[in-house]
Amino acid sequence: MLFIKNLSKVFKGPKGIVQALESVSLSVKASEFVAVQGPSGSGKTTLLLSVGGLLVPSDGEVTVDNQNPYLMSPDNRAHFRASTIGFAFQQFYLVPYLSVLDNVLVPSLAFPQSIAIDRAKELINRFNLTDRIGHVPGELSTGERQRTAMARALLNNPKLLLADEPVGNLDNENANIVLSVLEEFASSSGAVLMVTHDNRAAKYAHKTLQLKNGKLL
Ligand SMILES: Nc1ncnc2c1ncn2[C@@H]1O[C@H](COP(=O)(O)OP(=O)(O)O)[C@@H](O)[C@H]1O
Ligand SMILES: [Mg+2]
Repeated sequence: MLFIKNLSKVFKGPKGIVQALESVSLSVKASEFVAVQGPSGSGKTTLLLSVGGLLVPSDGEVTVDNQNPYLMSPDNRAHFRASTIGFAFQQFYLVPYLSVLDNVLVPSLAFPQSIAIDRAKELINRFNLTDRIGHVPGELSTGERQRTAMARALLNNPKLLLADEPVGNLDNENANIVLSVLEEFASSSGAVLMVTHDNRAAKYAHKTLQLKNGKLL
């Protein structure tokens, strides 16, 4: 489902040059749950954004579902992302004035379907959020916001789920809920690429790779 070949990303700015990724190659098949583990600053978020069609690589190739998002027009890329990729961001990016239910439903704006509300409620329940369904993000704990963002990423049943530090703010009980949902999603034929510094993640992933200073070990 995902192929990355010799992916590099260099940030150049007035404050100097940062080589965030250096010749990273990996692949994730359908039904596979891959974790990339590395310390803060090792390039994990840069990797996910590059894979997700949100950050143009400096070099190398990204193929998702046999297509390179960076060879598409911006409109086609946006449509491709909405139909194929689910993204759970490290910073969540929930809409502050929408309820949990409406935040989870945001991806259905791209592909309206009558079953979206049922699916959203099912995900909200799976993530232990039913009691907070009408709350706006400002009325949620960090962990509840994190689980809302994960439910939103899964709403459209993406072929590839990208998860950036999905258990970073969670106690063990909720971390286990999130990681088992990711595992179930993979066993129902989704591909999952998770990046994390958290050791708890490794025991759920089928494969764990180590990233250090932008390089896979
Ligand atoms: N937009 C940017 N401009 C310049 N440097 C950046 C930018 N984004 C990330 N970096 C740098 O790239 C490196 C990797 O960052 P990041 O991918 O966010 O790491 P991680 O997610 O593993 O903590 C860090 O040294 C960071 O300072
Ligand atoms: Mg990060």
